Amino acid sequence: MIFARIAGTGSHLPGEPVTNDDLVRRGIDTSDEWITTRTGIRARHFAAPGVTSSELALIAAQQAIEAAGCAAADIDLIIVATSTPDFIFPSTATLVQAGLGIRNNCAAFDVQAVCCGFVYALATAEKFIRSGSNQRALVIGAEVFSRILDWADRSTCVLFGDGAGAMVLEASDKPGVRAMALHADGNHHPDLCVPGNVAGGQVTGDPFLRMNGQAVFKFAVKALDEVAQEVVGLAGVPQESIDWLIPHQANIRIIQSSARRLGLPMEKVVTTVDIHGNTSAASIPLALDCAIRDGRIRPGQRIVLEGIGGGFAWGAALIDF
Ligand code: ACO
Repeated sequence: MIFARIAGTGSHLPGEPVTNDDLVRRGIDTSDEWITTRTGIRARHFAAPGVTSSELALIAAQQAIEAAGCAAADIDLIIVATSTPDFIFPSTATLVQAGLGIRNNCAAFDVQAVCCGFVYALATAEKFIRSGSNQRALVIGAEVFSRILDWADRSTCVLFGDGAGAMVLEASDKPGVRAMALHADGNHHPDLCVPGNVAGGQVTGDPFLRMNGQAVFKFAVKALDEVAQEVVGLAGVPQESIDWLIPHQANIRIIQSSARRLGLPMEKVVTTVDIHGNTSAASIPLALDCAIRDGRIRPGQRIVLEGIGGGFAWGAALIDF
């Protein structure tokens, strides 16, 4: 039986941290107290003008390849999860492929499931590997959400940041990814969206992120509780065997609720929302890479990843590291 195992991870955050007080100094009508108590966010990173998702993704990918101990030429599949691609087309994944110098025998494409994008990309790569068609995949979440924020809307612009996280997933005879669950309900699309597009050489509609924060909050708590329980059930493992929860990093209160429902103390939850803000598709692989590099997550441990984003789209994975 073929399984998909994590062989290495990497990540990249652009520039220096921008604190809540820095946002106040930039003229946003907010306060460190409001942002910290409502969300747990203390700082985030923003890419410099002109720096793109593929550039952040490439650095994270190079780190992940090095950690996996393989060569770029060994990668035969690249999937990038992003809602802030460099271009309408070609895909960000093909730009990363070019940056890595991989020419042939490597498929490359993007997936778009907003803040759940990395979980969707992981599920896709896992199925390619388990089918036997591919041996070694790069799965990346990369975003420059700062480009789609309305700086006049204080209820959203304080929440997000830029960054990228990457994982090399490879074929193995032992697990690996033990269970994955994906869901979506498009009826909620007005609650979290960028309702604009490009037509006739112009942006039509609204090119900024819009969110009904309370609706997102309520849905996220319930959906994440359910999907985490679902992957534990699908994997057929005891809930007590989970060593780490790595949730999408949107809001510390949503994360605390998820941990409670899984019966995990916060010491077993990787949180980076305080220092990264919400980096959408990049948030889970960024948090994962942080905890692997600082030695918290060790080989043999069992982790649950969970994410939710616009659509809504949500999902989770249970993985033996
Ligand atoms: N600074 C200061 N005051 C603010 C700010 C701000 N940045 N933003 C809004 N306010 C004010 C509002 O104007 C309002 O003032 P009023 O009462 O005088 O009208 C007050 O704060 C309360 O606003 P609410 O929107 O009701 O605040 P709420 O307590 O719901 O918190 C928040 C908002 C933090 C967005 C919350 O709803 C939330 O966390 N929702 C989850 C959404 C989320 O995490 N989204 C991330 C993207 S989705 C994803 O990743 C899953």
